[in-house]
Amino acid sequence: MEYTNVMVEVRGAVGIITVNRPKALNALNAETIEELQRAFTAMGADEALKVLILTGAGEKAFVAGADIAAMRDLDPLAARAFAYKGQQMLATIEAVAKPVIAAIGGFALGGGCELAMACDIRIASENAKFGQPEVNLGVLPGFAGTQRLPRLVGKGIAKELLFTGDIIDAQRAHAIGLVNKVVEPGKHLESAMEMAEKIAGKGPLAVRFCKEAVNRGLEMDMDRGCAYEAELFAIAFATLDRAEGMSAFLEKRKPVFQNK
Ligand code: CAA
Repeated sequence: MEYTNVMVEVRGAVGIITVNRPKALNALNAETIEELQRAFTAMGADEALKVLILTGAGEKAFVAGADIAAMRDLDPLAARAFAYKGQQMLATIEAVAKPVIAAIGGFALGGGCELAMACDIRIASENAKFGQPEVNLGVLPGFAGTQRLPRLVGKGIAKELLFTGDIIDAQRAHAIGLVNKVVEPGKHLESAMEMAEKIAGKGPLAVRFCKEAVNRGLEMDMDRGCAYEAELFAIAFATLDRAEGMSAFLEKRKPVFQNK
């Protein structure tokens, strides 16, 4: 598949998708959003890949936001279409049937922070910086930042970041639960790879069901969420991997999962 602003790479069972516009700090224009949509759709459907990693090219940025130059002349209807395009791509990432880890070095601002939040797990280099600075431009986040940020860090902190446009460092992002882990400068991709390989060794269908249970369950009340979990638990019992996982434990050997 042809890409201009995105690079894709396969390392064993891990697919790496890199936003590659370092001259614009990997800012998201329409073309880049479409390419990310294609890359996640293709790698999401590739059964050989168990985990995906999303990162940004260059040392300065993960993604510094939606492309301001491309947005400058949008009329309101075009702006709405652009927001939906971005939101749809992020929803695709969230719904991919395997874990997606964001490996973040440098700036993750505006649409970049929103992109990271659509991933399942965020690993940040110590030099990473986060924020929703849209209010500095007279707009608000358009790629679901007002929705995912409070779900991740709570209403109060989300409103502080949204209203002030403050840019926070990786340590604060970690303290408020925006990132899972902070690692030495430049080690974010390596650390994401380590976690991806660990996850890739688990029962892939079980991991997929965990993702579905959390994502869908959080949109339900507790009773429905638990019922949904029980249904997925039952479906897991129909898989070969469940039989293999339990037999391997009892036979004191390593399981060989087949994604079936
Ligand atoms: N869009 C377009 N171009 C961008 C960009 C963006 N979001 N962020 C950086 N760039 C470009 C700069 O224009 C500059 O290009 P030139 O070399 O051609 O001048 C290049 O990337 C390097 O950037 P700087 O020279 O500004 O680098 P710096 O180190 O001085 O500053 C920065 C880095 C603090 C990240 C600064 O670039 C910045 O504030 N960027 C904008 C961040 C932002 O406001 N993001 C939110 C965008 S709105 C949005 O995302 C809406 C939404 O939710 C959908």
